[in-house]
Amino acid sequence: MEIVILPDNAAIGRLGADAVGNLLQRKPAAVLGLATGSSPLSIYDELATRSADGSVSFAKASGFTLDEYVGLPADHPESYRNVIDKDFVSRVDFASGAIQAPNALAEDIPAACAAYESAIAAAGGVDLQILGIGTDGHIGFNEPGSSLASRTRIKTLARQTRIDNARFFGGNLDAVPTHCLTQGLATIMAARHVVLVATGPGKAEAVHHLVEGAVSALWPATILQHHPHVTVLLDGAAASRLQLAGYYRETYRAKPAWQGI
Ligand code: GLP
Repeated sequence: MEIVILPDNAAIGRLGADAVGNLLQRKPAAVLGLATGSSPLSIYDELATRSADGSVSFAKASGFTLDEYVGLPADHPESYRNVIDKDFVSRVDFASGAIQAPNALAEDIPAACAAYESAIAAAGGVDLQILGIGTDGHIGFNEPGSSLASRTRIKTLARQTRIDNARFFGGNLDAVPTHCLTQGLATIMAARHVVLVATGPGKAEAVHHLVEGAVSALWPATILQHHPHVTVLLDGAAASRLQLAGYYRETYRAKPAWQGI
């Protein structure tokens, strides 16, 4: 795991955008894994800027979203399919139909989840997965207790996650759905490169477990310790509980330029 502690969101956005930009330069038809939430916004903002000035193009790329609420109508502004369109997809030059999302409106949910796994496999797998992390250590919506070998499926949201996300539903906890579809932990682990962003003091405990804790279903993100290529982009507050923060800073400062991101 490469841990990069940066001064602010803008620096996180630039480095995350570098990872995506370098990939697209090597592989214009790359497959991206797209997370919603506030954490990746700085990366999406930077990529929108670079797309506008022509330094990056998504014209041949495609994407898969991580998760979706169950029970929201297709036109609900907080449906993750709409959120990712607003926050990122509509701001760059993806071809129409290039983005797929789990179909939480399907009558047969297990079949829709299996079809999503098949679609990711048919696209050749995810090259770069952008991730946030929940305060309880979830990635996607893989809540504590998730099987470390899980694939896309329906999950019940933890109360803490619903409380955290109530801000997107006018502060009304009852308006936050109780269920979701999410890529599983094994689905996420199959991505070739994972870029995880965490900022602010509220994420410090989850980041501590992610980087330095024991691998456990209680902190689902810890499965990433078994992934060969994870880049963790943090601000100082999110990194504040890392025992080896000094070492991570030193390592990044001494990183040879040829290694890139
Ligand atoms: C949400 C999403 C995750 C996201 C996480 C953190 O519930 N399902 O994909 O990474 O929680 O959200 P935020 O980045 O807004 O803190």
